[in-house]
Amino acid sequence: MCQYAAENGSAVDWHLMHLGQFCMGAAGLVMTEATAVSKTGRISHKCLGLYSDENEAALKRVVDFCRQYGVTAMGIQLAHAGRKGSAQVPAKGGQALSADENPWTTVAPSTVSFGPDWHVPQALTRQGLATVKAEFVAATDRAARIGFDLAELHCAHGYLLHQFLSPLSNQRSDEYGGKLEYRMRYPLEVFEAVRSTWPADKPLGVRISATDWVDGGWSEEESVVFARALKSLGCDFIDVSSGALDPRQKIPLGPGYQVPFSARIREQARIKTWTVGMITKARQAEEIISSGKADMVALARGMMFDPRWAWHAAEELGVDTQYSEMYARCRPDQWPQVFPWRDR
Ligand SMILES: Cc1cc2nc3c(=O)[nH]c(=O)nc-3n(C[C@H](O)[C@H](O)[C@H](O)COP(=O)(O)O)c2cc1C
Repeated sequence: MCQYAAENGSAVDWHLMHLGQFCMGAAGLVMTEATAVSKTGRISHKCLGLYSDENEAALKRVVDFCRQYGVTAMGIQLAHAGRKGSAQVPAKGGQALSADENPWTTVAPSTVSFGPDWHVPQALTRQGLATVKAEFVAATDRAARIGFDLAELHCAHGYLLHQFLSPLSNQRSDEYGGKLEYRMRYPLEVFEAVRSTWPADKPLGVRISATDWVDGGWSEEESVVFARALKSLGCDFIDVSSGALDPRQKIPLGPGYQVPFSARIREQARIKTWTVGMITKARQAEEIISSGKADMVALARGMMFDPRWAWHAAEELGVDTQYSEMYARCRPDQWPQVFPWRDR
């Protein structure tokens, strides 16, 4: 979850607290926020990045800290914002940076802006495509050195790789645009390059937006085809989200509203999926897993609201989970006067 707290792309003390709190709460896996593979691949001036030695050292400090005290696996999301970059942080409005806010030139598949008041990006040339791919590879190398357990390519929410997939943002007439096979080509090339860099024994997945929620945009059917292609290249899981490519989107929000996309991709592409979006209750999460709609449930806001969510869910479902040594005494079975049903 983007924190907009980084300095020159480097994690700061805030990240120790932010990620540290989740690491002792026994989630199975804690993911970093979108971590940009280049300076101009950031959304804002305050985004996390992994494109310099300073960025790498700063993020390693956070991961080492989480490992020292925490009990969870650690994953990184590698990202490039494309035409949604050069933006203000949400607290300042989240719009395109104005001339006095140090904006930068953004890149995308085509010279199509995110919206009327957004920067018009430069269309990536062949050289540009090669450069961005190399930046993904270099950041992957850094992530492997830091020692993350898992990595995920951000191919969702309207960022660069998603911009290649969607016909709304990709209007190229070369072999990287047009029919589905061509629109998938660049994201698949980047995936392949990252897969061959990321340790073979560590999981690598992709977060996608299963639909743009706009007529004529990226669709569920295309997501299934993309998931199959990724699987054949050694992708371990698809993290299924939706939307954020086009401001015209109309999303029918509600509890678990993205679960059906995960279920369909899991069944039709025969690949492991994560589901995310308005999942807040332990039994809701449990039903999703036990009924085979996803292999993993991811929480964003629910976990920020309650960083001990996994402990509470384990308690409600009557299963054991891990605690950091220092917090072992708050476990309900340690004080049966308050939690008599846990006296065992
Ligand atoms: C503050 C915040 C920051 C987010 N940053 C990211 C991000 O860096 N990468 C990403 O893929 N999704 C990001 N998201 C989207 C969440 O991962 C998630 O898909 C979405 O919030 C829906 O899940 P939820 O209902 O559990 O919050 C962010 C969401 C929030 C609220």
